[in-house]
Amino acid sequence: MNQGNEGKQRSADPVLVTGASGFLGAALVKAMAGQRLVYALSRRPAIPGAEPLAVDLTRGEEVGRLLEAIPFATCIHAAALADPDLCETDPETAWRVNVEGTRHLLEVCQRRRKRFLFLSTDYVFDGRKQEPYIEEDPVCPLQVYGATKAEAEKLVLEIPQNLVIRLPFLFGYAPPPERTDFATDTLLRLWMEQPASYDNQQLRSPLLREEAAEAIRLMADSSLSGIIHLVPSETATKFDLARAFAHYLGKPAGLVREKKGEESGARARRPPSMRLSNEKFLQALSDRFRFRPLRDSIVRVAERFRSDAESSRRATGISTGQTSK
Ligand SMILES: NC(=O)c1ccc[n+]([C@@H]2O[C@H](COP(=O)([O-])OP(=O)(O)OC[C@H]3O[C@@H](n4cnc5c(N)ncnc54)[C@H](OP(=O)(O)O)[C@@H]3O)[C@@H](O)[C@H]2O)c1
Repeated sequence: MNQGNEGKQRSADPVLVTGASGFLGAALVKAMAGQRLVYALSRRPAIPGAEPLAVDLTRGEEVGRLLEAIPFATCIHAAALADPDLCETDPETAWRVNVEGTRHLLEVCQRRRKRFLFLSTDYVFDGRKQEPYIEEDPVCPLQVYGATKAEAEKLVLEIPQNLVIRLPFLFGYAPPPERTDFATDTLLRLWMEQPASYDNQQLRSPLLREEAAEAIRLMADSSLSGIIHLVPSETATKFDLARAFAHYLGKPAGLVREKKGEESGARARRPPSMRLSNEKFLQALSDRFRFRPLRDSIVRVAERFRSDAESSRRATGISTGQTSK
């Protein structure tokens, strides 16, 4: 079928988003809720603009019962135990959520012939390859998180129409009641002029979560299948990002310090650097999507944070951003 026509035909189809209360899931719901019916699945209360569905994905029978009568056309599976350190300390839970939870959803989608998009991670690789990883490279995770996501990918790919989307490090502004993320936490520290140390060794390909959500929405309306790397070309360390945030907030660069190796404190091993080829993605969506420059994304996040922090300061007369959090 013609991909363009298929996109148009599907654009009004209802979609099921799992992990809807999460960092990316919330942005996905927002990106799609104005255009179609969105079923937002998580264990926590629903977010506005979507039909709420509450279930624990590790409970297979309940998942089957709940979803049997829901008229969705596509499932975007964003729910996961996505913190590599938590996965390392509790590998059983990581397996139950990331592998068994995915299996439970797949069973329903396969039975009801629904399209399935699985959000995976560049952590299925160890980062040791000199060239960018391509979709066909064998997986080689360094930690429990990557291993569980790689195992779930295998299950998803048993159905040829399904799509695995590998994502890089995501960032964005996540105001309360959302769970704070790297960027929001960093901006808050800078606003309060608290120094902090950041890794300056591990190169990542940071992607704005709203941009990721928009690209995923487009892929949900396409006939793409297999594996695809949704990764921008620009790279940066967390130190680079924190320094850029300091610059755009007008704070001293000295607040952002370089982390020494022994300061890490992380339980899960991280890939030294990580680059994924985005050639397949750029070819597939060349007529509909372009990555914005990283600098623009950083400015957008910093500006949104500053606007909230300044409103809060005006409202309370208190000179820190703490009240906005
Ligand atoms: N954030 C990143 O930088 C990044 C990078 C690469 C890939 N990814 C992938 O992108 C996806 C979204 O990540 P994220 O950062 O948005 O994660 P997140 O903020 O930690 O959100 C995880 C979501 O999963 C839900 N969830 C967890 N356990 C569940 C269970 N047992 N039953 C039902 N729902 C459950 C949580 O909802 P409740 O707690 O409300 O149930 C929450 O909505 C994940 O698949 C992750 O692997 C993320």
